[in-house]
Amino acid sequence: MCGIIGFTGSSPAVPLLLDGLERLEYRGYDSAGVAVISAEKGLQIQKCKGRLSALRERLDSLPPLEGTTGMGHTRWATHGEPNDVNSHPHVSQNGQVAIVHNGIIENYAEIKEFLLHEGVRFRSDTDSEVVAQLLDYYFTAGSDPLDAVYRVLERLEGAYALGILCADQPDMLIAARKDAPLLLGYGQGENFIASDATAIIAHTRTVAYMEDGEVAVLTPDGIAVYDEYRRPVEKQRHTIDWDVSAAEKGGYAHFMFKEIMEQPDALRHTVSPRLRDGEVVFDELALTEEKLRSFQRIYIVACGSSYHVGMLGKYNLERFLRLPVEVCLASEFRYSGPLVDERSLVIVISQSGETLDSMAALREARSRGGYILAIVNVVGSSIARESDDVLYTWAGPEIAVATTKAYSTQLALLTMLGLWMGKALGRLDGAEYAAVTAELAALPGKLETVLSSAGAYQYLASLYFNRDCVFFIGRNLDYALGLEGSLKLKEISYIHSESYAAGELKHGTISLIEPGTLVVALATYGPLIDKAVSNIVEVKARGAEVVALTTESHRERMAELADHLLVIPDSHPALQPNLGVVPLQLFAYYIALQRGCDIDKPKNLAKSVTVE
Ligand code: M6R
Repeated sequence: MCGIIGFTGSSPAVPLLLDGLERLEYRGYDSAGVAVISAEKGLQIQKCKGRLSALRERLDSLPPLEGTTGMGHTRWATHGEPNDVNSHPHVSQNGQVAIVHNGIIENYAEIKEFLLHEGVRFRSDTDSEVVAQLLDYYFTAGSDPLDAVYRVLERLEGAYALGILCADQPDMLIAARKDAPLLLGYGQGENFIASDATAIIAHTRTVAYMEDGEVAVLTPDGIAVYDEYRRPVEKQRHTIDWDVSAAEKGGYAHFMFKEIMEQPDALRHTVSPRLRDGEVVFDELALTEEKLRSFQRIYIVACGSSYHVGMLGKYNLERFLRLPVEVCLASEFRYSGPLVDERSLVIVISQSGETLDSMAALREARSRGGYILAIVNVVGSSIARESDDVLYTWAGPEIAVATTKAYSTQLALLTMLGLWMGKALGRLDGAEYAAVTAELAALPGKLETVLSSAGAYQYLASLYFNRDCVFFIGRNLDYALGLEGSLKLKEISYIHSESYAAGELKHGTISLIEPGTLVVALATYGPLIDKAVSNIVEVKARGAEVVALTTESHRERMAELADHLLVIPDSHPALQPNLGVVPLQLFAYYIALQRGCDIDKPKNLAKSVTVE
C-alpha cells in the first residue's frame, strides 16, 4: 500500500525523493514524509498528514534539508489515524535511527510492551515505530547497524519493506523485505530502493528485485545484498524496458483517462505477439501437454477487478475446456480449505502482482500441490516470481487506482489461454477457435471505434451524475461485466451502485426499483437478448430510467425500450465484454469528473493492496 523510495549518491536527496514520491503517491496518500542525513546535520525529518503537496509546501517554507542520502514515504494508514505523528519516517527515541515501512508488523503490540518495559517512550500509534525503537535498543546494546537489523528482523512477524537510516552513517541506507515489494536500483555513483520502478526510472533502468528475507546495504558505490542467514547474495539485474513517459500523464487530465485511451495499444501489446497466423502461441509457458491433460479442475483466484476478470473467464473457459472452473476471492480462498491438489490448475490474476491476499492464496494453493499460472502486469512482481508459469499482460504501467487497461488485457489474455488450452486438449471446436482468434485480432480496432464516441458518454454522465444510487443488471457474461461497471462507478464517484444477475431481480432486488431509479441494463450477450429485454421491461414498468448497453445488431430493438443507449460494435460473444467494459469505464469517469472527485486517487483506496 505505502510507497517507499530511498537514495544514496552525491546529489541533494530531497528533490529526487519528492519526485519519486510523486510517482508513488498512487500507492497511498494519507500522509508523506522524507528523512535525509548528512555528516554535519545528522538525521533531518519532515513529514505531515495529507497529500504530497502538503509536504512540499512545508519543505518550501523551511530551510532546506541537507544530505545526499535519504528516504521518502507515502502512507496508506493501517495502524494509527493519518496525522503528522503517525506519518513516516519514524525516528527512534534516541534519534539514532529512522525507518520507513510498508506492510504490517503483526506482533507489534508484544514488541511494544517489551520496549515500554525497557523504558522506551513511543510517539505514534503505528505498528511501524516498533522497528525504529527496537533497532535503537540493539544499537544502544552495542550492535553494529547490520547486526541490529538482523536481530530486529528475527523478532518481526508480518510483512515489511523497510528503509533504514542510521544517524552516524551518512552514506548508508539499509533495506529489508518480507512479503512487501521492494526493488534495488543501480546507478552511476548512486543507488536506490523503491516500492516500484516508476519512482526511479528517471535515474536508472537497472534493477534487482529483493526476495523475502533479504537485507541490502546501499552506499553510493554499490549495493551488498545478504540472505536471511547473512550470506552474500549475487542479485540478478533486470533492465526496465518501458519509458518514463509511460508513467506520466502526457497531457491528459487524469491517468485514468489516459489509461482508458491506451487500451487499443495495450491490447495490441498483449495479443499481437501471441497470435501468429491465426494460432494462439505462448512461447513463455513451461506448462507441458502432459501436465495440462492432468488437470481436473481450474481455480481462478484474484481480488477486485481482477476477480471480475475471473468471473468472465469462467464462462469462456468452461465452454472452451469442458472443465469445471471455480472463481474465488483470494481473501476467502486462503481460509476456505480449498480442495486444490496436483490435478488443479490455479490461475492467479493480479495487475500489481503484489496483492497480499492473492499472494497468500497462491501460497495456499501451492502448499496443496496446485500448478500456479499467474496473469500479471508488473514484470518481476512477487506473484510472477512465485508462480510456476506467468503470462504478462504487457499493458505498461497503470497508475490510476481504478484499473482499466490492466482489466482489459487480463481479460483478453485469459480468453487466449482458454483458446490455447482448449485446442491443446482437443475440446474446442475448430470453427469457434477460428472465429474467436479472428475477433481477437480485430479487437484493438473495434476498441478505437468505441473510444471515438467518448463525447456521448460525457453527455450521458451529465444527465446522471447527481444520482445517489445506480443498478447494473445483466445475464451471463453481461452479469460479470456489470460487476466491473458497478465497481468502477462506486470506487471513483462514490455513488452507491450494485450489480445484479438480471434473473435475480424478482427474487428481492426489484423492490428497490422506484420511479426514476437509474438502471444500467447490459444487453450485449446475443444468446440471451430476449431475456435482457424482459428484464428491462420489468424495471421500466416500475418507473426505472434505463441506460442500455448493447451491440449494433440489437440497437433498434433496445432503442424502443431504453431511455438512452450505449452501442458497441458486434464481436464474438466471448470477447464482447472486452468492448462492453469501455463505455462503463468512461461513464464512471465522466460521472466522477462532473462530481469533482479525485479520480486518480479515490478516498480510502490505494493502487496496490499489500496488507490483509
Ligand atoms: O493488483 P491487483 O490486480 O491484484 O489488484 C486487485 C484489486 O485491488 C484491484 O483490481 C482493485 O479492485 C481496483 N481498484 C479496481 O479498480
